Amino acid sequence: MTESLSVDVVDLPLMWLRDNCPCSRCRDPRNGQKLFQITDLPAGLALGAVRQSADGGDGADGAAVEIDWAPDSHRSTYSARWLAANRPGADTCEGPGDRRGETGKTLWTAADLEGRIPEADWAAYLGDPAVRAQVLESVLALGFALLRDVPCREGQVLEAVESFGYVRETNYGRLFDVRVEPDPTNLAFTGARITPHTDNPYRDPVPTLQLLHCLSNAAVGGDSGLVDGFKAAALLREEDPGAFAVLARTPVPFRFSDSRTVLEADRPMIDVDGHGRIREVRFNNRSIATLRLPADQLDAFYLAYRTFAEITLRPALQLNFRLSPGDCLIFDNVRLLHARTAFEESGARHLQGAYADIDALAGTLAVLRRERAAAGGEFLDGLAALFEGEGAGVYLGEEVTMAQHMLQAAVRAEAAGAPDALVAAALLHDLGHFHGPVSGEELMTGTDNRHSHTGADRLAEWFGPEVTEPIRLHVAAKRYLCAVEPEYFGRLSEASVYTLKVQGGPMNPTEVAAYEKNPYAADGVAVRRWDDEAKDPEVTAPGFAHFRPMLAGLLRTA
Ligand code: OGA
Ligand code: ZN
Ligand code: ZN
Repeated sequence: MTESLSVDVVDLPLMWLRDNCPCSRCRDPRNGQKLFQITDLPAGLALGAVRQSADGGDGADGAAVEIDWAPDSHRSTYSARWLAANRPGADTCEGPGDRRGETGKTLWTAADLEGRIPEADWAAYLGDPAVRAQVLESVLALGFALLRDVPCREGQVLEAVESFGYVRETNYGRLFDVRVEPDPTNLAFTGARITPHTDNPYRDPVPTLQLLHCLSNAAVGGDSGLVDGFKAAALLREEDPGAFAVLARTPVPFRFSDSRTVLEADRPMIDVDGHGRIREVRFNNRSIATLRLPADQLDAFYLAYRTFAEITLRPALQLNFRLSPGDCLIFDNVRLLHARTAFEESGARHLQGAYADIDALAGTLAVLRRERAAAGGEFLDGLAALFEGEGAGVYLGEEVTMAQHMLQAAVRAEAAGAPDALVAAALLHDLGHFHGPVSGEELMTGTDNRHSHTGADRLAEWFGPEVTEPIRLHVAAKRYLCAVEPEYFGRLSEASVYTLKVQGGPMNPTEVAAYEKNPYAADGVAVRRWDDEAKDPEVTAPGFAHFRPMLAGLLRTA
């Protein structure tokens, strides 16, 4: 119960704090759902006793604060971790939130994505959760992703939807065919050019995702284009704030009808949330019915609409590409505008489309991330067990254990003020000695076990190159330093001198030049020096647990 642990609650809005009480009378522990009405809370809430504790609160370790409430004597315990993550601040509403609005997105122009279209192979997408997460993340952040080599079968687009969510059936069916029809109910079913638009603006709720799966595209023309509608709207706000405000507040009567269907929705072209941030764009020149507004408002609307339309048509905004058979485009239909060039009606062009919703896609991504985080926790548990188990064993003729050696290397890195990734590299640099098909013993009896590579490869699933590459280089760095620093060799331990021979001896000038070209060359040398210093039997380094939170922060999320 030291001062540094104390959790400040006095300035917090009391109703907010009480509404978030995590106790089992306030929330059902089985599902986390709230068990009281807002009207059940006493109107004149006040803090009674406030106690700091070193641990407790929502099952988490660490500091917590316990509150006895007045006037109803309810007791709440809040963890410091929860308060730190949720404490109200000036910029709280600027965060990404549900990532549906503009602050959760990466806005783009064509140049930002030229040659870097987010894409993945269908088989990899289905088979690898990391690829699946990347694709779904692209749809959330950029508004689209392109799946390649999706089997060219009719109906396949539905399987693509079902891989992350639910088909949104509409008047066009569970899926729809985009091809030339003799009696088109929609201009989409002709060979006409279609300018950038969103689909189904005449529906409320509007389908928030669209998929287009290309079965054939042999016609002359029929190329695809995408425009980031949020970017266009943000440009309008920058260049003509008045026009932006008009489009954000004017309900537009979007309409569609055919022999079996009448659909109507009065919605603004640019939908903003309560903080004024762009959340949805509806833009479709084909389906705007007659606006009924006072004459001056009609003038203002048409001026604003035209200005916005001109922005959406800027070539700099439109990303152009051509769908080939097997391509399936997934895109955010309340953000991206899609377009196609005109095509020869005699040519074979056939897309199958389906609608779906982006909330389910975001939910699927969240579940993938949760599973990944759990797997990351297990991975760190496994490392902790290695440090305690196998790591407690002798280290190749040195006077410290393997675990002590790696922990000492990490302490050196930390003391040198190295970035987390390099501390992690120092901590894990000899992991390749563990559990390998060839043991450290064999290194001592004359076989180079390439432990630097084995370790780096084993860690690559969880850490980026800034952790794995210095590890990969730490043996080469020894050979490098022996070549470029005459006094370095003299400082090597007896065992290290022996293994140097097995590892190939000092580098020759060609090898030195090649080593220096590696972008991680300096990091490899840094790890090497900490490695050499980390063999002191008199030192006791802190345990693996000290480094675990830092490692957790470095884990790749997908
Ligand atoms: C549509 C449409 C695009 C295309 O059907 O709404 O925009 O490439 N089609 O045919
Ligand atoms: Zn369309
Ligand atoms: Zn080492």
